[in-house]
Amino acid sequence: MRETQSQTVQVQALPDDLAFLDIVTEWDTTTPYHQWRVGTVVPETFLPGPVPRVIAVANQKGGTGKTSTALELALALVARGLRVRLIDADPQAAGLTHWLPCARPEGGPTLVDLYFDLKRTIQDVTYPTPYAGLYLVPSLPDLDDVQARNPVDAQNTLRHHLRKADDGIDVTIIDSGPSLGTLTVSALVAAHDVVIPVQASSGLDVVGMSALNDTIEVVQARPNPELRVAAVVLTDFEKSTLAREIGDAVAQAFPDALIVPARTSVKLGSAQLQQMPLRFFDPKATTVMDYDRAAGLLLVGRGQGAAA
Ligand SMILES: Nc1ncnc2c1ncn2[C@@H]1O[C@H](COP(=O)(O)OP(=O)(O)OP(=O)(O)O)[C@@H](O)[C@H]1O
Ligand SMILES: [Mg+2]
Repeated sequence: MRETQSQTVQVQALPDDLAFLDIVTEWDTTTPYHQWRVGTVVPETFLPGPVPRVIAVANQKGGTGKTSTALELALALVARGLRVRLIDADPQAAGLTHWLPCARPEGGPTLVDLYFDLKRTIQDVTYPTPYAGLYLVPSLPDLDDVQARNPVDAQNTLRHHLRKADDGIDVTIIDSGPSLGTLTVSALVAAHDVVIPVQASSGLDVVGMSALNDTIEVVQARPNPELRVAAVVLTDFEKSTLAREIGDAVAQAFPDALIVPARTSVKLGSAQLQQMPLRFFDPKATTVMDYDRAAGLLLVGRGQGAAA
């Protein structure tokens, strides 16, 4: 991993005086709608995970909020004093690598090189970003070669590199593309936790979840028995009857996972256009608070702390 740039922006913990969502143990479907208060579901069976930790953000359906979730969750963890590496495992050009600039020199190696060049290490492809404590493994469209050319042992490549990494990173978050191909499977094999973003306003996202669930079960059966679905994030969340039904469906499908409503931000698209995380573009957005709460619940001992 390269040296941190001399000028980086400190990611501050946000003041805790803004109204957070309630924490509940079950998704509430019985209270009359006008009295219904939306809550972050923390099932009694949920246990936060220890660091170092690898989190795959996955959903094979397009546009469910994977990239937004990966970036905002990463910054929320950085604000708690953790060192976080984001991996862009999506060959789409308009993805995380575009949204989050990093200090990769022209022609410098990217994620694809881990799959095709045996000499490359994860440190070689991990670059500082403008935010202190946040690092990026960028990708270019040539990452598609991993799906097209299917290099030897591709599914285990990320796991191999991340398990032997010794670079002081506490949490690695992998942003997967909208497919269940080799790259997403490679992320699931490498991960301890899966976080699944589902659009709270899309019935189709829930339908598509069963294919993802099948893939997770195959990965759990053999290459990675420790994998678990840690959280479902209900993205673009606004209180509605449909959002309530979708929350109920995911809570039933994943009874041991956190269910995290991430409320709608009208400024998220503009933040992407400006190549800024929402956390900096609109720090008071309730969405930012929602990701802060998720960050506090996911990891052991990091629930209350602010940046060191
Ligand atoms: N909390 C939110 N509020 C408003 N819009 C949101 C929210 N979360 C996600 N979106 C919008 O949903 C769209 C898709 O988001 P994003 O790019 O994160 O999804 P994705 O799953 O990574 O997409 P892809 O499958 O193409 O990689 C974006 O236009 C984004 O602005
Ligand atoms: Mg994406």
